[in-house]
Amino acid sequence: MECLSVKGDQLFIGGADVEALAKKYGTPLYIMDENTIRKNIKEYKDSLNKYYKGESLVLYAGKAFCCKQMYKILTDEGIGADLMAGGETYTAQASGFDMSKVYIHGNNKTEQEISMLLDIGVGAIVADNIYELKNIQQIAEQKGIIAQVLLRVKPGVEAHTHEFIQTGQIDSKFGVAIENGEAILAAEYASKCPNINLKGLHCHIGSQIFDYPPFELAARKCLEFASLIKSKFGITIKELNLGGGIGIKYTQADDPIDISKFIQGICAAVESNCARLDLPLPKILMEPGRSIVATSGITVYTIGCVKQIEGVRKYVSVDGGMSDNPRYIMYQSMYEAVRVRKPIDDDTETVRVVGKFCESGDILLPDIKMPELQVGDLIAIEATGAYNYSMSSNYNRVPRPPVVMVRDGKDYIAINRESYEDLVKNDA
Ligand code: LLP
Repeated sequence: MECLSVKGDQLFIGGADVEALAKKYGTPLYIMDENTIRKNIKEYKDSLNKYYKGESLVLYAGKAFCCKQMYKILTDEGIGADLMAGGETYTAQASGFDMSKVYIHGNNKTEQEISMLLDIGVGAIVADNIYELKNIQQIAEQKGIIAQVLLRVKPGVEAHTHEFIQTGQIDSKFGVAIENGEAILAAEYASKCPNINLKGLHCHIGSQIFDYPPFELAARKCLEFASLIKSKFGITIKELNLGGGIGIKYTQADDPIDISKFIQGICAAVESNCARLDLPLPKILMEPGRSIVATSGITVYTIGCVKQIEGVRKYVSVDGGMSDNPRYIMYQSMYEAVRVRKPIDDDTETVRVVGKFCESGDILLPDIKMPELQVGDLIAIEATGAYNYSMSSNYNRVPRPPVVMVRDGKDYIAINRESYEDLVKNDA
């Protein structure tokens, strides 16, 4: 990971000494490097400005990592956000974020949530299905306003990734399929709703994707659908939201797409398809989550127990686990890790790093080569900035670790460590 460096015997992140931070804040500890987040955002923004002739806006996908400080960074960088209705939206609003730059997702938004979104005046609600269009129309009519809406379509594209994070194919709970006529019915319905302005289309084909052709195909299918609804209902699509999904390098085996080349290709595909279909260039929206925050973050743990089981394996237990990182148990996700002190020592043994939870599947690193590890050593798991804190839980009533951000060697708290009092505060 680029933000990590070694000076003498010590590991640094964003110029800050990892061991010193672990002493100051305790472990387990999430640490994120602000400059990496800003650099990744800039790469998306600058590439879109460079390669696209039309307008564009980057919408950071809040589900990857969401807290008030994150929205302050987005505000500073001048980008928008893709959020779920409810808590993610509330958090952005509480940070003072410009809610007109917010696009709202979800396959089952409640009437209350829709009402709240219309009151806030979000940039657009991404309608998932015809029932939702009905609700949006009714609620917008009651309020006497016009709702800004994008329609989420399934372009019928299968991305090669874990089946739980594939979303572009017909067999998905998200959106309406172009292939089987659901999407055209939904667009027709929207075209007849006086309180809905169908300003665009959205698609998201999946996450942690390493190949480029599915993205280009999805863009083509969406534009062909845009052309169809233009000819049938006279609706011109002004915004094309291509979702997120670019994969990142968790381990040496991963070979991610270069963001700027990816954007260059997508922009060329949108421009050539628009020319072919005689469509005006839409505003392009992109919703990267993982590729903005994943490589900014590490999680630091203290080793509490080492168990050598003769003829089987060596178990190394740390003070966190599946509650701060459920990604192995959910997707068998792999990570790289380093020992915090003397990180460059030779890897001499293969161990299984496990958590402290009452679950045999509570594994962080199933088989990793590391230098010799002893009780009391600190280890850092890399690339945990996305979908770790945001998917953390209080399993076994373990409080969530804090998130500390660093910038140019200086550290500050973005999210406090939970306390035992926090855990019981909603108990009746
Ligand atoms: N837009 C939409 C509509 C999405 O559903 C997602 C991710 C994104 C954008 C951002 O995708 P990204 O750039 O982060 O790949 N929990 C899983 C990932 C689930 C992704 C869900 N949607 C994991 O830990 O890998």
